[in-house]
Amino acid sequence: MAGGCAAGESTQRDGIAMTYLSSKHPAVPYGETRRRGVPAARYPAHSDAPRLYGPGVSQSLAALYRQLRAEHGVVAPVLLEGDIPAWLVLGYREARFVASRGELFDRDSARWNAWDLVPPGWPLLPAVGKADSVMWVSGAEHARRSGAIHDVLTEVDLFELRSRCARIADELVDRFADTGEAELMYQYAHVLPARAIAGILGIPAHETAAVVLDLVRILDQGPDALDAHGRISALLARLVAQRRAAPGRDVISRLVAHPAALSDEEAIQDIFVLVGAGQQPTAYWIGNTLRLLLSDDRFATTLAGGRRSVGQAMAEVLWEDPPVANFTGRWAVRSTQLGGQRIQAGDMLVLGVAAANVDPTIRPDACVGSAGNQAHLAFGHGEHRCPVPAEELAEAIAETAVEVLLDRLPDITLAIPAHHLVWTPAVWVRGLAALPTTFTAV
Ligand code: HEM
Repeated sequence: MAGGCAAGESTQRDGIAMTYLSSKHPAVPYGETRRRGVPAARYPAHSDAPRLYGPGVSQSLAALYRQLRAEHGVVAPVLLEGDIPAWLVLGYREARFVASRGELFDRDSARWNAWDLVPPGWPLLPAVGKADSVMWVSGAEHARRSGAIHDVLTEVDLFELRSRCARIADELVDRFADTGEAELMYQYAHVLPARAIAGILGIPAHETAAVVLDLVRILDQGPDALDAHGRISALLARLVAQRRAAPGRDVISRLVAHPAALSDEEAIQDIFVLVGAGQQPTAYWIGNTLRLLLSDDRFATTLAGGRRSVGQAMAEVLWEDPPVANFTGRWAVRSTQLGGQRIQAGDMLVLGVAAANVDPTIRPDACVGSAGNQAHLAFGHGEHRCPVPAEELAEAIAETAVEVLLDRLPDITLAIPAHHLVWTPAVWVRGLAALPTTFTAV
């Protein structure tokens, strides 16, 4: 694949990734994903809406976005897991409008008019704000919680973090360097940010592996997602109690001692956000950057040059394959119009980050690069955008991870053709299910 304009349109599946997919979803074509089980009187636009989940959907999201745009414009009716109705905001300006107008589109999911349709154990529950975390509160309450997070993350020493990440990266590469092959998502990209963030937070090293596994279970949204959620919450509750009693120099200690005076429950919820919102997208930023560097001729020629091309690839990924691809959770405060659609009070809106980034109204020629332009929506927008110090942590972790890997294994290549790589089935993230590579054993 040459050039960024084809990014995000991989439609082929086979090899290891096909095994991964088929264990969960039998493959069916996109057209068969349309359903008609939604109460038509309440959701007239959704009776024939396409599913934003299910077999194969994540492999051809760019095609789905184009189809939705053609049929519905910048705001499209979609069905979430279990055929729950929602609106996908595909337009760049509309996504920024929704994200910055909390008085019209609130984060409080208590407003949702579809709660009665949600079955017990619904896998997306953790993603629709049943928790009382910084992500789901508004106004002054949000300012208090988010201010505390901003302050404690600003105190993290980025130089020390880069050194720590380089040590973790070296240790991980040591584990497979003499084999001549590695599957980089699970042997490297997921583990490194988990250990780095756990280190910042002060999560003991021996608990980190279990936390990483549980985060993957939550992300996969399988039947064990809620149990995994419970296990991480229990660990964080223990750590909050310990750090109140015996503070250290870590983020958890600083957060519980912050003048915002978080209760135990608030601290647990917000630390959970730091773990979950931090680890997975950073892992996919690493994976998507490596995929681009190892598959795109524009980068191959300068790979040995190192730093400059790594930064360019990381920036391009934020436009073309943003790790957080769709984001659940704005609810209409009152009935309104958006992008030509009639939105009812209490309807759920999903921010289509990946779709908005390639909105033809802001990028008429998708093949024209976005070098130097940071107006993408990869880190969100508005009051609830990813905190800037968090973005800086993610960049330090991801850049170090990619640079150390390329330094240690300079002739690393993909073990399968790039178009055979498969994206994870969850449409909420844009990340590879696996990244098999080969290199000269050292
Ligand atoms: C590549 C890495 C990352 C990406 C792409 C990313 C992206 C995002 C996005 C899209 C949002 C939601 C914005 C919205 O609702 O408008 C968000 C929120 C958040 N992220 Fe990140 N993030 C990344 C890394 C991190 C890291 C490393 C941390 C912390 C350790 C972090 C902490 C947070 C927090 C606390 C929020 C909630 C903000 C709020 O609701 O006030 N993120 N992030």
